[in-house]
Amino acid sequence: MNILSLCEKPAKLVVGLMSGTSADGIDAALVKIRDCGTETRLELLAFNCFPYTPQQKEMILKFAVADMVSLDEFARFNVFLGHLFADAALMLIRKSGFQLSEIDLIGSHGQTIRHLPKPEHFLDCLVSATLQIGEPAVIAQRTGVITVADFRPADIAAGGEGAPLVPLFDYLLFHSENSNRVLLNIGGIANVTILPKNCTPEQVIAFDSGPGNMIVDNLCKTFFARDYDQHGDLAASGKVNYTLVNQLLQDEYLLSPPPKSTGRERYGIAYFQKIIELARVDNLSPLDLLATMTFFTVKTISTALQTFYPQPVDEIIVSGGGVNNFMILRHLQDLLPATRLSTSDQHGVPADAKEAVCFAVLANETIHQRPGNMPSATGATRPVVLGKVCLP
Ligand SMILES: Nc1ncnc2c1ncn2[C@@H]1O[C@H](COP(=O)(O)OP(=O)(O)O)[C@@H](O)[C@H]1O
Ligand SMILES: [Mg+2]
Repeated sequence: MNILSLCEKPAKLVVGLMSGTSADGIDAALVKIRDCGTETRLELLAFNCFPYTPQQKEMILKFAVADMVSLDEFARFNVFLGHLFADAALMLIRKSGFQLSEIDLIGSHGQTIRHLPKPEHFLDCLVSATLQIGEPAVIAQRTGVITVADFRPADIAAGGEGAPLVPLFDYLLFHSENSNRVLLNIGGIANVTILPKNCTPEQVIAFDSGPGNMIVDNLCKTFFARDYDQHGDLAASGKVNYTLVNQLLQDEYLLSPPPKSTGRERYGIAYFQKIIELARVDNLSPLDLLATMTFFTVKTISTALQTFYPQPVDEIIVSGGGVNNFMILRHLQDLLPATRLSTSDQHGVPADAKEAVCFAVLANETIHQRPGNMPSATGATRPVVLGKVCLP
């Protein structure tokens, strides 16, 4: 099928593929999408997370932190990840019961290995950059399906940060006439989309609030030999050190106004080492440090909302793996007692699937040659069509 006839189809079967900064696995969603833009209607047909093996996860993290990886290794890893994304799409389609020939489109976010949104001098130019890998040509060839990928660079080219890109999706699907809504996604990094009641696209405020599960996951790995704090059980049994929380809130990124976006570059290994050192000085046990950093994570979110949107928030709709951490949800409700909390499941989009569904929708926007960024969120000078299209 060519792109023009694809646009004319009233309903398309689209696979969205997403892997976030947690590097836990590839989220794959099969969605039936009708129309586009504000007319978009969705039906989620299948979803699955395909976890990375420990070796794959380790390799992603190595690429995300190492100052120097060989270019040979990088080139091969890009193609290798393309195959993993293709495998995820093919397995999801097989499990869903649909035929591969029925699938119209794939949208693949890829794996972020660098996010450098603030312009810095490079030779005699000011350059910002972001890099997502997982070769889309491999996905298109292995599946035979038109594949849109590499969504972020177009926004960077238009002067934006390339992130967050979920706000258009949030606006299309969740804006409300009678309540001030916030969409909060807690992955490795946490991001918020603020949708004031009856807002226009220009009135949407969205940014990465700071760390999501990243710090807590690192603590779990270092001190408790596990990938994450299952249901927040460990944090529940530790004691929060509010002095350390207040100290850490004095953070350049947290205090700076949006547009802003962040990643492992800021809240990854170097930040983690700083925290370990502070905890050592304060004589904090690993359990108390975990409780403290869980509370700190939530406090960065509530403080960001109160600072950058000083209106009553009627409702927060939470998604991402963080919804499974009950201590995060409990702290959030305690810090924002007047706000109604729900998960995106209660609004028809499973919390784990939301970002994968988002990249299916953004691929659909691209095919219709419609912009997928929101300049109010990314800081871009204009709305632009996102992504690169690989034809099989
Ligand atoms: N049962 C659970 N209990 C606590 N935390 C969980 C649970 N399941 C997932 N998580 C958290 O969610 C993270 C993955 O969330 P995800 O939305 O996929 O993030 P990302 O987009 O960064 O990949 C895990 O690393 C972990 O911190
Ligand atoms: Mg993930």
